[in-house]
Amino acid sequence: MAIIKVGKGDLRGRDKAMSELKEYFSALSSRKGREITYNIRTYGCQLNESDSEKLSGMLDQMGLTEVTGDASADVIIFNTCAVRENAEDRLFGNLGIVKADKKTDKDKIIGVCGCMTKVPENVEKIRKSFPYVDLVFDPQQLHLFPVYLRDAIGKKKQLVNITSEDYIVDDSLVPILRKRKFRALVPIMYGCNNFCTYCIVPYARGRERSRDISEITEELNTLAAQGYKEVMLLGQNVNSYKGTNGERFPEVLKAAAEIKEFNRVRFMSSHPKDVSDEIIEIMSSYSNIETHLHLPLQSGSDRILKLMNRPYNREDYLKTAHYFRQRVPDGAISTDIIVGFPGETEEDFKGTLEVVKECAFDSAFTFQYSIRPGTKAATMEDQVPHDVVTERFGRLLELQNDLAFKSNQAKVGKTEEILIEGQSSTAPDILTGRTLSNHLVNFTIPEELRVPGKSADDYEGMLCDVEFTHARPYSVDGKMVKLK
Ligand code: 5AD
Ligand code: SF4
Repeated sequence: MAIIKVGKGDLRGRDKAMSELKEYFSALSSRKGREITYNIRTYGCQLNESDSEKLSGMLDQMGLTEVTGDASADVIIFNTCAVRENAEDRLFGNLGIVKADKKTDKDKIIGVCGCMTKVPENVEKIRKSFPYVDLVFDPQQLHLFPVYLRDAIGKKKQLVNITSEDYIVDDSLVPILRKRKFRALVPIMYGCNNFCTYCIVPYARGRERSRDISEITEELNTLAAQGYKEVMLLGQNVNSYKGTNGERFPEVLKAAAEIKEFNRVRFMSSHPKDVSDEIIEIMSSYSNIETHLHLPLQSGSDRILKLMNRPYNREDYLKTAHYFRQRVPDGAISTDIIVGFPGETEEDFKGTLEVVKECAFDSAFTFQYSIRPGTKAATMEDQVPHDVVTERFGRLLELQNDLAFKSNQAKVGKTEEILIEGQSSTAPDILTGRTLSNHLVNFTIPEELRVPGKSADDYEGMLCDVEFTHARPYSVDGKMVKLK
């Protein structure tokens, strides 16, 4: 299937819809005697976070004000995830809750986008069970959101716009309202060609397509000039990047790291098959590239990896992990692991535990296998019974929690630079941030380092040195020793 490139000329309809909506919302605001608000509820990965920033950008240009959390609003958008069943269940639960809301205000608009909309059964369920949802639209056509929104307003019928085409949009033409003042999410490629047998993403996000490197570097330079300290290069398989003139991921990574204004260059998510020695060398030679590698293992059994259609084996994986540990000595490795893939035996699972031990992961996202209808694994025989999965999952968690705690303990006594992310959620006087190796740190500010008149939130995006004093299972405690 061809990939459709969307440029300026294709967006005239969208621009017209944006200005019509601006007028509509301004009139609505006068009628209601208050500002008109929107609320985007984002599920899933950072690519969805990035899509939500684009939706925010467009709604902001239409004159709407954002409300966060689960607050009600005049426009509520659910940006969904389909990777596991529980994410889907959460959406249906929340759609049920907003029904009452919609009844009391007929001007309210409820929209659903994201990966779930690419699964026909979900769209059917929304149509049947949640008819008060006004619009269902495709994550591949986010740039046309204003057109769909305009068309949905005032319509009695639910508007559904799902495409089977793959699009690549010039991102500079889509307004973005970034959520964090220090961190910019920059997708460099979209989609996935790997078809791991358990995964819905290739069906939901289409084939791999990469942005032009010139477009990416232009965006990076703009972000640097705007004062962003951290940039996160994103892609379903970020290191499978393939530019129009044959450019590969190392070039994009280097281009970002060469921008000295960036204090942190991060990237997510890597596929082990594409983590070359060259990438690890680049990571070790630039001081502003994170010393953290996310390397999804999925399983430590060669037999299961084959059934999963993951094109590497345990030995290849360990080689990459060891090379990273050797070249980036203070670095951290995180991973994704699925427990209970069809046919997984106790022996296969033990293989996973062995690799986890040998790699000593600093952190891990661990999942129980969730059947995704439409994927190859969904119809495989030998689905593992639920009680076996939960028992194995418990053992994996126990091991991994211990490793994560040890990784945090190894920090105690050291002093490292932290990029401050804001106030900690646990105590108003405590700040939170991350090391270059992505360790989460909560820390106090001694009286003498406090800036008069600054609240904890005002420190967001600043750099400081923190001495680590105490390890916790998922974070490190410390105290600021220098504000930069
Ligand atoms: N069941 C459980 N976990 C899954 N993931 C993807 N699909 C499934 C599934 N069907 C996990 C993988 C992937 C992460 C983003 O989600 O570990 O790396
Ligand atoms: Fe899913 Fe595999 Fe593609 Fe990752 S590489 S998005 S797990 S199919």
